[in-house]
Amino acid sequence: MASLGHEVVGVDVDEAKIEALTQGRPPFFEPGLSELLVKAQDKGSLEFTTDVSRAAAAGVHFVCVGTPQKPGEFAADVTYVDAAVDSLVPHLTSTSVVVGKSTVPVGTAERLAGVIAGTGAAMMWNPEFLREGHAVDDTLHPNRLVYGVADGRADNPAVAGLDEVYASMLAEDTPRMVTDFATAELVKTAANSFLATKISFINAMAELCEASGADVTQLADAIGMDDRIGRKFLNAGLGFGGGCLPKDIRAFMARAGELGADQAVAFLKEIDSINMRRRVRMVDIARDTLGGSFIGKKITILGAAFKPDSDDVRDSPALAVARLIATQGGVVTVTDPQAIANASRTFPELNYVTDTTEALTGSDAVLLLTEWREYRDLDPQATAELVSGKVLVDGRNVLTPEQWRSAGWTYRALGRP
Ligand code: UGA
Repeated sequence: MASLGHEVVGVDVDEAKIEALTQGRPPFFEPGLSELLVKAQDKGSLEFTTDVSRAAAAGVHFVCVGTPQKPGEFAADVTYVDAAVDSLVPHLTSTSVVVGKSTVPVGTAERLAGVIAGTGAAMMWNPEFLREGHAVDDTLHPNRLVYGVADGRADNPAVAGLDEVYASMLAEDTPRMVTDFATAELVKTAANSFLATKISFINAMAELCEASGADVTQLADAIGMDDRIGRKFLNAGLGFGGGCLPKDIRAFMARAGELGADQAVAFLKEIDSINMRRRVRMVDIARDTLGGSFIGKKITILGAAFKPDSDDVRDSPALAVARLIATQGGVVTVTDPQAIANASRTFPELNYVTDTTEALTGSDAVLLLTEWREYRDLDPQATAELVSGKVLVDGRNVLTPEQWRSAGWTYRALGRP
């Protein structure tokens, strides 16, 4: 927002985060973000604070806090959203607009509109579609803008205010839709559910490919050429993780149940199961390739983040596999270009090595589980010099099997012969 020319105050309750941000350090790795932070703070258009009263002068208040899965339940925990809105209430006036960006169970916006009603401020719900690793570009150039307003009308006065905030995007002809609250909330959940379904669909096909000797990467290429299907999000492999897709489909099931519509999204349970099976299958293939046991074997795991260009390890499929192998007696070494600090905080019992060469040295089997560029570009010959056993399992179907096999490697992958 600051880089678009707005005056921005960032508020958080976490003092350490605010301190780091003030020094231009984002609390997570995201390409391009650090540079923007420093530039905006140098210009004087961005400040960070734990004092929510500093936000009082602002016209538009974005609520961007997390909605993680509740411990022991499928439902989303919206207590941070509630707390953020509660803390704003004393500072709102009849000209303020509160814009929710957090992913919430349908019905939340209407409830929160009730919470701020006494202030005269307007409530909007404006879901966020950015992908980690592409967050800067997705934010500055989104593929659509969705505004949920109380009456669902495009002439709602709050709409013009948000149009001003997003003027640069609207000038690029970004499609903008005005809906009611419930539709806006559901757009987000439905989009993530569709993406998860697409990934699990191709992973289910991978299971069939394994059973029949077919190749899921060729299958995906061929069906993806039909533009009604499309090739994006048809990369078969270890499946989806992260802080969004897994918890969003679960929260959707929980919310649908509360609304008496659980049958409508019962299929998401299957989507979740297919996804979780990939992790177990990965471990089975790796163990099978090593002759039936991990005991005494040194396994190198390439990747800890849930996806490349991120240091996010929330529900990371790579770390789930690493832990499963460790519990089966494998000597596991995990490496990652960015996520080691987060991974070692989350699972301190695993062994982490920063340097890829060091991680590969003496390995009995290499598992590529997060497709960082550095791992996709590994040279089969040079890598062979480092390891003890030339066994490679490609959990993301990103390497060229022939290249590795012709260098003497046993190459295995999910959904490929
Ligand atoms: C996802 C959505 O893509 C964003 O549109 C949404 O805004 C965001 O959640 C959110 O709710 O905030 P993100 O979690 O950053 O974004 O990651 P994705 O790019 O969707 O990838 C999710 C997982 O699916 C990763 O583990 C990735 O490795 C996996 N994936 C993705 C596949 O296994 N196959 C694919 O073809 C694509």
